[in-house]
Amino acid sequence: MPEAGASARRIGVLVSGRGSNLQALIDAIGRNELRATIAVVISNVPGVAALDRAAAAGIDTLVLPHRDWASREAYDEALAAALRDKGAALVCLAGFMRRLSARFLEAYDGPVLNVHPSLLPAFPGLDGPGQALAHGVKVAGCTVHLVTAELDAGPIVAQSAVPVLPADTADTLAARILVEEHRLFPQAVGRVLDGAWRIDGRRFLDV
Ligand code: GAR
Repeated sequence: MPEAGASARRIGVLVSGRGSNLQALIDAIGRNELRATIAVVISNVPGVAALDRAAAAGIDTLVLPHRDWASREAYDEALAAALRDKGAALVCLAGFMRRLSARFLEAYDGPVLNVHPSLLPAFPGLDGPGQALAHGVKVAGCTVHLVTAELDAGPIVAQSAVPVLPADTADTLAARILVEEHRLFPQAVGRVLDGAWRIDGRRFLDV
């Protein structure tokens, strides 16, 4: 299959905090392991470390604090418009700690990928590692999935498993999962940008 043009490999990254997954994308692009351009990094929280990481890499940033909009739908439309303005052909949620509404997905109309620190469908929502530890599972991990209107429930693109060790705390388990997130997320982004995939029901499959 012919390669998509450079404009089809422009990605927008949404963040809310530390930005280590954003950094993993920046680093993978720098090592030529991920062929993509980050068109913009948008944060819904001002002053977060992810914005500093983007600025240090010379990437355009935008702060859109959700509290400045009257409703979730109005915010999500503004977010989609900003991503379209920047020509983002794919959106990556890299620690974006805010639900996106169906309105966003209609208004943006392109693939949206999220990285989540659990083996979905187990432990959606907040604190995946803490939930896994409290449940007593022996294997935890991370998931990259396509975003749908249902929280952490879209088709799964890639997963990686991490053992839960007897001495783990939520923090040590989260740190071990994060290492896998940093490996898995850039790979999955490249896979989706390359095309040659289709969705069959809930399944993400090769064409
Ligand atoms: C990551 O562990 C990511 O999987 C998680 O937040 C962390 C962000 O870290 N995201 C979610 O829980 C989304 N439901 P980072 O800002 O250093 O990338």
